[in-house]
Amino acid sequence: MKAVVVDSYDKIENVSIRDVAKPELSAGMVRIRIQAASVGFVDGLKVRGLYQTKDPLPFTPGTEFAGIVDAAAADVKGFVPGTPVIGMARSGGLAEYICVPTEGIFVRPNNIEPEVGASFFANYLTALYSLSARGKLRAGETLLVLGAAGGVGIAAVQIGKLLGARVIAAASTEAKRQFATKFGADAVVDYTLEGWRDELKTLTGGHGADVIYDPVGGDLSLQAFRSIAWNGRHLVIGFASGTIPALPFNLPLLKGGALLGIDLAQIGRREPDVRDQVIAQLFTLLSEKKLVPVVGKVFAFQDFREAFKAMTTRSALGKMVVRID
Ligand SMILES: NC(=O)c1ccc[n+]([C@@H]2O[C@H](COP(=O)([O-])OP(=O)(O)OC[C@H]3O[C@@H](n4cnc5c(N)ncnc54)[C@H](OP(=O)(O)O)[C@@H]3O)[C@@H](O)[C@H]2O)c1
Repeated sequence: MKAVVVDSYDKIENVSIRDVAKPELSAGMVRIRIQAASVGFVDGLKVRGLYQTKDPLPFTPGTEFAGIVDAAAADVKGFVPGTPVIGMARSGGLAEYICVPTEGIFVRPNNIEPEVGASFFANYLTALYSLSARGKLRAGETLLVLGAAGGVGIAAVQIGKLLGARVIAAASTEAKRQFATKFGADAVVDYTLEGWRDELKTLTGGHGADVIYDPVGGDLSLQAFRSIAWNGRHLVIGFASGTIPALPFNLPLLKGGALLGIDLAQIGRREPDVRDQVIAQLFTLLSEKKLVPVVGKVFAFQDFREAFKAMTTRSALGKMVVRID
């Protein structure tokens, strides 16, 4: 089978597709013929060996995918060949086949296309879990989304609207702000401008943001926290800017605000019931078509490098997807 293979942590230009052995099934595993896989910010870091955990070399990148069950081990129930699925794995998505344990896959509703399935799971689960289970975002509250046109950002814009919030999208370019508006943002701010916090103050009538969704980090996080509403919740999602900020403890005191960390990788192990509830809620929203996930751009398999380049050049709108079959 064909797979993207990373032989050494390197820039994406030096990574290629090659023929490798089709993965063998073992107990508890399902083999999936992949139709589409997505590329997120983390995938870009992993290829270059810059992520907090390193995949042992050689490895195939790709943590999210959609496909069709090709074969299942004798002890597996519920995933017969031909079943459409959505899946997550530590790596291996950018290949024609992958073997994964059943915990990492979910039956894909019939009306969900592979491109949508591949781009949906991590971003929307992160958004719904953090805004609802952790941030306790309530209808009528104001949600400020930083990096609002990125993969996790645009998911938060849509989920925030579904939860009844007023959503203010912050992004660096006009095209990104228009993208956020198209997917539901009520107002936008350009957070590259000096006075963006004044603009936010005006937009919220001096109240500030009740919930801040922050996948960006750096100095921007501190600026945003200074604009949090009393009893506000600042959700730490990631550090796309490349800088982990340090918050002076007097700020939460003075603002009556809370800093809440989110790690999707741990919720299945630490809060399995909450995760399952959130996943069930997401699938309901999907099948009722209340949620139509954003697929940013779809690339052919041989053009997979372009998907990575979009992530590393800050130019992606939504999630990048690679079509495999
Ligand atoms: N906590 C979790 O469980 C969880 C789950 C998923 C993702 N994440 C994290 O969330 C972050 C965003 O992931 P993503 O897939 O949404 O990435 P993305 O699509 O590239 O979006 C990131 C956004 O950050 C902004 N940004 C600011 N400075 C940047 C820089 N120097 N380089 C790139 N982007 C920059 C960009 O918006 P502007 O140009 O508008 O500033 C960009 O749209 C990553 O750190 C990822 O690890 C965390």
